[in-house]
Amino acid sequence: MTAKLLGANDEADFESAVRILLEGGLVAIPTETVYGLGADASNPEAVARVFAAKGRPANHPLIVHVADLERARMLSSDWSASAEVLGRTFWPGPLSILTPRSEIVPLDVTGGRATVVVRVPRHPATLRLLAELHDAGSCGLAAPSANRFGEVSPTTARHVMTDLGGKIDAILDGGACEVGLESTIVDCSADPADILRPGAITRHTVASTLAEHGIGVTSRTHAERSQDTYAIAPGMLRSHYAPSTRLEVFETDVLLLAARQSHESAGRSVEVVPRPPDDFEYSRSLYAMLRECDARRADVMLAVLPADEGLGTAIRDRLLRASADR
Ligand code: TXA
Ligand code: MG
Repeated sequence: MTAKLLGANDEADFESAVRILLEGGLVAIPTETVYGLGADASNPEAVARVFAAKGRPANHPLIVHVADLERARMLSSDWSASAEVLGRTFWPGPLSILTPRSEIVPLDVTGGRATVVVRVPRHPATLRLLAELHDAGSCGLAAPSANRFGEVSPTTARHVMTDLGGKIDAILDGGACEVGLESTIVDCSADPADILRPGAITRHTVASTLAEHGIGVTSRTHAERSQDTYAIAPGMLRSHYAPSTRLEVFETDVLLLAARQSHESAGRSVEVVPRPPDDFEYSRSLYAMLRECDARRADVMLAVLPADEGLGTAIRDRLLRASADR
């Protein structure tokens, strides 16, 4: 099987994507963060195919994408005040909310867990597609990032084709992703709320938004919490988002340069991951650059870490995981 490439702006292609999903097939979909591998969350056979195509362990829960806040509430048995504030403020957008699951979310979507992670993505074609799925009776679209388990997430339709083209039915091409890193995940079932995965909606933004409503966020920074949680929470694995070439990361250009010289004098070929001038551009292009450098099959890749603040926290997180020992 080779995935059909469908254009998000082509009416017939769009309808074909909806039909494939309603028939239990797999369609990769564009979002503002990364491409997702979509399946009808209400169809257990379709959901099982997602795990098979990704090579993902069945106890790793999937994010459920829905068209709006009202649909998100339906997936929860206890929609907290923090979930309501964050959903109202940031959806559609690069934020995912962990909440106790309601009966309408099948257990295989959540890997048997009592919670579900839900998100309203911002891509217009995907929002329209979600509305059509709901109209046909679906609770939403289960969609992990559309890459093989543990590897770099795709930010273009071509990346998806390379990774999963032989294993899925279609790819809805909606252009390059504007954010480029996976969504911020906030555990809104906890009080105070807890940021599980850093993303484009920064810790500062989440904390100040919740503070206006008198709601707190755990004070532990991402760097502190990673020490214990990487190994425990599914998908928060220490090694993740990883290219196949070994990646080494550095706090400064000077340190990177020293490492480069030492590798080269030992006869090793080196690829340096370009560092764009600002973190928005770094975030948007990081995964494409990792893939390009990886494809040149050097002995080692080197990258510079941005400062641990704002969007830099999420970029650091992904680079550190991509460079972790496997
Ligand atoms: O930006 C994104 O979030 C992208 C796009 C496609 O929406 N999706 C994405 O999905 O990154 P995925 O599956 O690659 O990452 C979701 C993370 C995983 O680490 C998963 O283990 C965690 O969220 N997760 C999902 N449901 C969970 C739950 N009920 N409890 C704990 N962790 C959960
Ligand atoms: Mg992923």
